[in-house]
Amino acid sequence: MKFFVDTAEIDAIAELNDLGMVDGVTTNPSLIKKSGRDIIEVTKEICALVDGPVSAEVTATDADTMIAEGRKLAEIAENIAVKVPLTWDGLKACKVLSGEGKMVNVTLCFSANQAILAAKAGATFISPFIGRLDDINLDGMDLIADIRNVYDNYAFETQILAASIRSANHVLESARIGADVMTAPPAVIKAMVNHPLTDKGLDAFLKDIAAAEIKIL
Ligand code: E4P
Repeated sequence: MKFFVDTAEIDAIAELNDLGMVDGVTTNPSLIKKSGRDIIEVTKEICALVDGPVSAEVTATDADTMIAEGRKLAEIAENIAVKVPLTWDGLKACKVLSGEGKMVNVTLCFSANQAILAAKAGATFISPFIGRLDDINLDGMDLIADIRNVYDNYAFETQILAASIRSANHVLESARIGADVMTAPPAVIKAMVNHPLTDKGLDAFLKDIAAAEIKIL
């Protein structure tokens, strides 16, 4: 499973990247706003830091302007994936931009039918939002499984990018289902290391190290 980090915070990306945990980055307008940075400037910095795809989202809602914005975003670096919303205009923009050889991430996906349309329009990534479905008492993981099943039936090449991940369990469940990629905030990726038995075991070892005065250096 590829790991994308869902943030526009350079320091957080750099820390995870140094550990080999970053196969790509996703941003969205809310994350750009949170960073307080100019979208072009911060996206350029992220692209220079990370080798894999960096998703940068268009701001327009009509296809022609989305295409123009997508072309401008793609000029930032070769690893830009233009992010477009899952609307009819977004699909038109996806078709044109992917036809030009640009990576396209179709975002705000909430149904398998939407995911089929994105694949037909040539999307590189489809981003089903798990947490936002859970927020309205639906099961976001059912959507990941549904899309995996449909895509496998027809060998669609579009990669399933499990998004809106809010917990370490979301990561594991997405991996069990076979999502190609997951994108999560840095805090969720870091939370994957936690286990109470690891803490308990380490406490016990530290006590014995102190009691026996074990020294290596
Ligand atoms: C990723 O591409 C999405 O923008 C992001 O995962 C959304 O997450 P949220 O629903 O927690 O805002």
